[in-house]
Amino acid sequence: MTRLFSSTLLCAILFSSGNAFAAYNASAGKAVYDASCASCHKAGIMGAPKLGDKAAWAPRIAQKIDVLVSHSDKGYRGKKGMMPAKGGNAKLTTAQVGNAVAYMVAQSK
Ligand code: HEC
Repeated sequence: MTRLFSSTLLCAILFSSGNAFAAYNASAGKAVYDASCASCHKAGIMGAPKLGDKAAWAPRIAQKIDVLVSHSDKGYRGKKGMMPAKGGNAKLTTAQVGNAVAYMVAQSK
């Protein structure tokens, strides 16, 4: 019941927020990043934009956060390489991926 309530609440926050960025929680995203994203994004493996590399992130951050989250959630192929859906961890929810993106963006601007 509590669980149902919190997911309903989370959906309400996600869909009602005018500022999409506020819907994602960067501090909660750190653990997701460490577990599923750092393997490529820490050192910039396979063309991945490196965490903290402002020059690499600036044009990406200039896209809407929703685009970044959608690319990370569904995967995409860009000019630098291939970003696997959910970083290859199919168990992640879109909200968890969004939190990880918020963390990465916060560390890289
Ligand atoms: C297997 C390596 C790999 C893993 C693991 C990985 N990424 Fe990526 N990611 C990439 C590469 C390569 C790109 C650059 C693709 C391009 O733009 O050419 C990228 C790009 C991105 C971008 C920029 C998207 C854009 O539109 O510019 C974001 C955000 C991102 N990754 C988030 C994540 C998150 C969040 C995770 C963990 C859930 C993750 N990545 C895990 C390889 C990886």
